[in-house]
Amino acid sequence: MEHPRIIELAKIFDPRGNLSVIEEFKDIPFKIERAYWIYDVPGGDHRGGHAYKENTEFIVALSGSFDVELDNGYEKKTFHLNRSYYGLYVPKGLWREMSNFSTNSLALVLSSTEYDADDYIRDYQEFLKFARV
Ligand code: TYD
Repeated sequence: MEHPRIIELAKIFDPRGNLSVIEEFKDIPFKIERAYWIYDVPGGDHRGGHAYKENTEFIVALSGSFDVELDNGYEKKTFHLNRSYYGLYVPKGLWREMSNFSTNSLALVLSSTEYDADDYIRDYQEFLKFARV
């Protein structure tokens, strides 16, 4: 199983405003099939609570901050995202929880596959069986 990691993106500083960019296969190691974003998360709420069998993702805090906890079935690691020029590479097969969203935070998620409800594992015990093979 691949390890999750923070990827630092290009930052083009400019007095008129900064710019960052993501290109598939250059900045992130997969083809972008889908983009979605999570916003207006009420204080204290959680997102995630599932794993994907095939889908790989890259998560960027475009605005504000939040935590992403990743679990490979043996150990958990929490990543704090709070800059728009870095993101978290989340290989397939990891259980994911997102929490501690700041007010007005905006999470951009780039995905390697189309949406497929059958790709989700939403039961943690089932995930453990899947992960610990
Ligand atoms: P879900 O992936 O469970 O959200 P999160 O991981 O942030 O808690 O998705 C929430 C709902 O949105 C679920 O009913 C499926 C739907 N959805 C789509 O229709 N297309 C998508 O690409 C995504 C990510 C979710």
